[in-house]
Amino acid sequence: MRGRGVFTDPQEQQTKVPTGGSYVSQARADGFVVFDRVQKSYDGEILVVKDLNLSMPKGEFLTMLGPSGSGKTTCLMMLAGFETATHGEILLDGKPINNIPPHKRGIGMVFQNYALFPHMTIAENLSFPLEVRGIGKSDREAKIKRALDMVQMGAFGNRRPAQLSGGQQQRVALARALVFEPELVLMDEPLGALDKQLREHMQFEITNLAHNLGITTVYVTHDQTEALTMSDRVAVFNDGRIQQLAPPEDLYERPANSFVAQFIGENNKLDGTVETINGDKCTVRLDDGTLIDAQPVNVSKAGERTRVSIRPERVESNPDRLARDAHLVEAEVLEFIYMGDTFRFRLRVAGRDDFVMKYRNAQDQRRLSAGDKIRIGWRPEDCRALDA
Ligand SMILES: Nc1ncnc2c1ncn2[C@@H]1O[C@H](COP(=O)(O)OP(=O)(O)O)[C@@H](O)[C@H]1O
Ligand SMILES: [Mg+2]
Repeated sequence: MRGRGVFTDPQEQQTKVPTGGSYVSQARADGFVVFDRVQKSYDGEILVVKDLNLSMPKGEFLTMLGPSGSGKTTCLMMLAGFETATHGEILLDGKPINNIPPHKRGIGMVFQNYALFPHMTIAENLSFPLEVRGIGKSDREAKIKRALDMVQMGAFGNRRPAQLSGGQQQRVALARALVFEPELVLMDEPLGALDKQLREHMQFEITNLAHNLGITTVYVTHDQTEALTMSDRVAVFNDGRIQQLAPPEDLYERPANSFVAQFIGENNKLDGTVETINGDKCTVRLDDGTLIDAQPVNVSKAGERTRVSIRPERVESNPDRLARDAHLVEAEVLEFIYMGDTFRFRLRVAGRDDFVMKYRNAQDQRRLSAGDKIRIGWRPEDCRALDA
């Protein structure tokens, strides 16, 4: 199911096709869920969503990931129809969402605080969205049974929410969002209140259910592991904008800017100035004078300031494994942490004490200890020269 995205970068979808005198983008015409230049202000002054362009194909599992306050919930609320966009348009299956009454939108929703009705039994909780949609009694019973079985809660129909654990309640909330067979499900930090083990189990259940039922899902979280493991694509939010929209592997391997690089996974950052650029390779003079190899991503000419980003597992302490002309960097081992399957080293590099190198615990690996002076390097493509 992965990699079914229509496009990976909102800036790329500039192909305009004329329709009846006005111009809409190709993505807008094709997507099942479309945000088209959406802006939102609550107070008429500050934009909390600044310029949102997003097009999701049917069946996609898309996660909005970002720090608190970056506008994720606001986007979900606009899609659900509880908030209106200040500018721009949101479309569901080609139709502007404002024109569709809420109960006809076919959207199921799950939130962090379950929001089950406490005075109703589990079965009654699931019956409610069906009654609202005018579905008859025998149909309701069949659908309720099927939805509860789906989340392994078939035996609990007669209990009340208070008689269930947090995880069970969250499963019921999921069943209630799915019971009327919505085409689109929105989930806002639905697992935030659960402990780690249950959360990981539910992550697996939710993605399986969504994919098996072919449901289009917009999932909101501030947890990057959750986003990477569950999603077909992830939209990284910061300050009301999508910083990068890409499949998990692209986000991790090819972060588009410094924000994404530091937000997703662990990453070493070093500041410097571009010295030479030659195609997809460049050299960067770090502020302490060290010269390193990098790949130009957000820099285009010598003299530009940059912040480079290198993953700890891409740092090489054996120069034999690098190209002969690779630039090597002096480093001192400050700390060695044995982590079982991996070794982790904190190094002093280019005047910084927080540089991390990590490698697999394997027979042929050199054991290093604090105080060792070593030389490290990396392949240019593993070191991304991003915005300063
Ligand atoms: N109902 C509201 N009225 C006014 N401001 C709001 C409201 N809801 C959210 N905000 C503000 O909008 C910004 C984005 O919030 P939100 O969408 O909840 O972010 P997130 O879900 O990413 O944490 C925040 O600055 C928040 O304070
Ligand atoms: Mg939120």
